[in-house]
Amino acid sequence: MSSITIPFPDDWHVHLRDGDMLDAVVGYTARRFRYSMVMPNVVPPITSTAEAEKYRDRILASTPDDAVDFRPVMALYCSPDIDLADLRAGIDSGVVAAVKYYPAGATTNSESGGTSLLAFRDLFEVLADTDTRLLVHAEATDPAIDIFDREAAFLEDQLAPLCEAMPELLVTVEHVSTRAGVDFVATHPQCAATVTPHHLARERSDLLADGMRPDLYCKPVINSSDDQAALIDAATSGDPAFMLGTDSAPHPTTAKYGPKAKAGVFNAAYGLEVVADVFRNHGALDQLGAFVSSNGCAVYGVDAPEATLELSHEPVDRDLATDLSTSSGDSVVLFGTEEASQWTVTVHN
Ligand code: DOR
Ligand code: ZN
Repeated sequence: MSSITIPFPDDWHVHLRDGDMLDAVVGYTARRFRYSMVMPNVVPPITSTAEAEKYRDRILASTPDDAVDFRPVMALYCSPDIDLADLRAGIDSGVVAAVKYYPAGATTNSESGGTSLLAFRDLFEVLADTDTRLLVHAEATDPAIDIFDREAAFLEDQLAPLCEAMPELLVTVEHVSTRAGVDFVATHPQCAATVTPHHLARERSDLLADGMRPDLYCKPVINSSDDQAALIDAATSGDPAFMLGTDSAPHPTTAKYGPKAKAGVFNAAYGLEVVADVFRNHGALDQLGAFVSSNGCAVYGVDAPEATLELSHEPVDRDLATDLSTSSGDSVVLFGTEEASQWTVTVHN
């Protein structure tokens, strides 16, 4: 049996949605994570401090009582709608923790995104000036580029010129999914990266080889086994640039199992067990606390948690839920049930 006690984790990339979906999913994050960087791609997108504050209030109002030490932090959606004085005020008041750039058309609710990173240079000056991170969905949208090559293309064509033009800007490459992405972060000291449980634990044959698996479909798409190996090496290495961001992204099964599956994996419930399983299989459980807690605390400049979480590799003695239901009757599949059935989690606070 292996067992490890780690600092209580943070999730530096999560989609909590709104309305009844928010009500249904927020508890999963609040019971397992402390700081949670909430993505702004709700409808309409969050582009002002006032909207971010209202959204945070809705999240806190939906949070169940058994949350451990939940601290949602808010990102604004990078768009020409952002008023720079409002952005600065939001950062100064502590409401705005980051700005997220989506390439227009790359993923769910990215229609209001950008077509050129450098077009937002004035906005990025405010971020650089305030040591606030730019979060980047790094995926080219040119349909001529193969879907599995789009992260590398974006990094080369868009992010590399920005990093060169603004070496003082702090950047998080979100849900890094390829060896090219890992190499980019390793060679750009101003960059950190989040890595998801599903990109660590699966590769594209899992998505496509044995029947198409809509529940594994996400953006950026899960890539090759070589890319997966590079992500595992980075996450388990202790390199402080790599931290957990689940990219937990619930969609109702009706939207996942239609003719055009929506991108997103809902992993807030069992993502931690999935990551622990990957680390255990690579003999790296001793690095788990760095990846899920201390690296992110250092990147975002927050204190270490007081609570700890114990993971024991022993089968759970009850049937685990495989999906959740919202009050309006939607259901969402929970990713990672198999791994979770092998781990017992205890919170100490
Ligand atoms: O798979 C994804 N789902 N990737 C994203 O970038 C967005 C997310 C969502 O909001 O569903
Ligand atoms: Zn996301």
